[in-house]
Amino acid sequence: MTDQAFKLRELISENAPEKINFGDARIIAVSSGKGGVGKTNLTVNLGIALSKMDHKVTIIDADLGLANIDILLGLVPRYTLTHVLKMEKKLSEVLVEGPNGISIVSGGSGVMDMVNLSTDELSRLVESLESINNESDYILIDTGAGLNNSVLSFIKASQELIVVVTSDPTSITDAYALIKNIGELDVNIKVVVNRIESNKEGLDVFTKLNTATSKFLGVEMESIGYIYEDHNVKKSVKKQVPFLIGFPNTLASRGVELVAENLVRNSTYTQQSGGFSTFIKKIFKGKN
Ligand SMILES: Nc1ncnc2c1ncn2[C@@H]1O[C@H](COP(=O)(O)OP(=O)(O)OP(=O)(O)O)[C@@H](O)[C@H]1O
Ligand SMILES: [Mg+2]
Repeated sequence: MTDQAFKLRELISENAPEKINFGDARIIAVSSGKGGVGKTNLTVNLGIALSKMDHKVTIIDADLGLANIDILLGLVPRYTLTHVLKMEKKLSEVLVEGPNGISIVSGGSGVMDMVNLSTDELSRLVESLESINNESDYILIDTGAGLNNSVLSFIKASQELIVVVTSDPTSITDAYALIKNIGELDVNIKVVVNRIESNKEGLDVFTKLNTATSKFLGVEMESIGYIYEDHNVKKSVKKQVPFLIGFPNTLASRGVELVAENLVRNSTYTQQSGGFSTFIKKIFKGKN
């Protein structure tokens, strides 16, 4: 066991469940193999759709790329989780209120440094994240694309995963590669097919991916919806107003609302106790 893992285990056992009132937020990573397929737009608008259904939502921007959540929402968060870890700010100062009362947390570069934290920093991280857990029904994590360690550890630590894919063949093969690297999760991996021209196209893309993962990896996927190619998405990105707010009746909004309904109804979700404590443990387990 590494020093880091040992410290973490000690820390978590000190903070046993009887001391912390664990919430039961569903922690869902939103990811993709290929970049630019619509993860950030889905995460933000799904968050809004869930909050319109009266669920409390927190979004964690764990993508260090350029096209991030702040830009999409026209927000300028001055502080990130990195400031919390360095004790420069409290979590309440880092949380930014987004549309419809959703809370946004920017990961900042701290996301990458999560393996090398001191015991004090770990302690602060667990405490901060526990408080998010207690105040949310859904925590959506935009992990960014690809196969790097930060993306993989966020996915493995989350209870659930939504993979975003388009009909672009490289998006499908890259999604397959991502799933191959994750291996099996506790619940089925959920798939959203974005930018479809017809429902048939959505079904075809899902079937292609699911056939490959079940045949070669033994991983069964679950389709939770398709989102149409919609010119209002680009407009809403330009205006920095999420399409679910700027264009509530456009096709893409309808698609995201169906995804939200499917997610809420989702029967394969198994309630896990432990919430963020489990999440953090898994992040560090993945690093050993
Ligand atoms: N349903 C859609 N219809 C039309 N255009 C879309 C749709 N979804 C996404 N787009 C376009 O794709 C662009 C990229 O979307 P987004 O930033 O959400 O992708 P991403 O997967 O988060 O990218 P990155 O991997 O760079 O983080 C958007 O700016 C928009 O122009
Ligand atoms: Mg993005």
